[in-house]
Amino acid sequence: MKEQLRQIEEKAQSAIAAAADLRSLDDLRVRLLGKKGELTAILKQMKTLTADERAAMGQLANQVRSKMETLLNDKGAALREAAQNARLAAETVDITMPGTKPPTGRLHPLQIVENEVREIFLGMGFSVVDGPEVEYDYYNFEALNLPPDHPARDTQDTFYITDNILLRTQTSSVQVHVMENQKPPLRIISPGRVYRSDAVDATHSPLFHQIEGLVVDKGITMADLKGTLELLMQRLYGDDCKIRLRPHHFPFTEPSAEVDVMCFGCHGAGCRMCKGEGYIELLGAGMVHPKVLEGCGIDSSVYSGFAFGLGLERIVMRRYNISDMRLLFRNDMRFLEQFR
Ligand code: PHE
Repeated sequence: MKEQLRQIEEKAQSAIAAAADLRSLDDLRVRLLGKKGELTAILKQMKTLTADERAAMGQLANQVRSKMETLLNDKGAALREAAQNARLAAETVDITMPGTKPPTGRLHPLQIVENEVREIFLGMGFSVVDGPEVEYDYYNFEALNLPPDHPARDTQDTFYITDNILLRTQTSSVQVHVMENQKPPLRIISPGRVYRSDAVDATHSPLFHQIEGLVVDKGITMADLKGTLELLMQRLYGDDCKIRLRPHHFPFTEPSAEVDVMCFGCHGAGCRMCKGEGYIELLGAGMVHPKVLEGCGIDSSVYSGFAFGLGLERIVMRRYNISDMRLLFRNDMRFLEQFR
């Protein structure tokens, strides 16, 4: 029996040394020390021995068992360390390798130009206000001197939520909110989305953007309007840029004007881009109608004001020479990536 134990120990020693990975080592542990293992089998035979022999043999068996346990544990630790080292070697990062650049987004051309316009007006002491896109008929039309039967409503057909709630057709609605909630002097711009029931083509979209401007104070005149817009256009298009005011009609301004800006292609001489005019129509403007002021609780014998509404798409298209408005809404990265 002694001899058997010695053999078991020897065999175990070489088997443990030969184990190639943690899994085979585990199998080995079960085979050597488990309930059906060789050592257990020997121990079961011990009942045939005398008491003295049994004590000596028991001691020996225990020595063999603990020797095997130590060997198994040491081998396990060695295998784990080797596996760890192999992983570290395989996962080494080469910090000299060129990195992969994540693609970064950039601002949409509409946003780029809106930000520029904001900056220009902030520099002139204006503040920027926001207004609702879903609007009451009252703010979009009625308070702007467009009663329900006014023919000008036809040119601004929109999407109705209910009979008197609609998607705003113009940022001019914000004028009314501002005049209702603040006292003059007022100097604000309000950029935002507007909606009209127009079919999509190269120059129309049912959703587009305007930037409204409103100034109300004592002694404001048409000269202030012209000076402000001239400065805006010179900042946007260059110091030699000139503007031209043509008489027009808006129900909420009196007098009203359409504002043309000198053609960038020919500098006023006339070319194909401006159809020989030398100027290009860019926005609507005028002196705030006394009825609109009074409707918002502002005394029109004390205060006067001017207002204007810029079409952002138009300015962007002129700026970047884009001939089809649909490009601005199509989200094609090949197009959008060009602007910064
Ligand atoms: N709201 C007008 C439009 O959409 C533009 C405008 C704004 C005209 C302010 C005069 C004053 O056509």
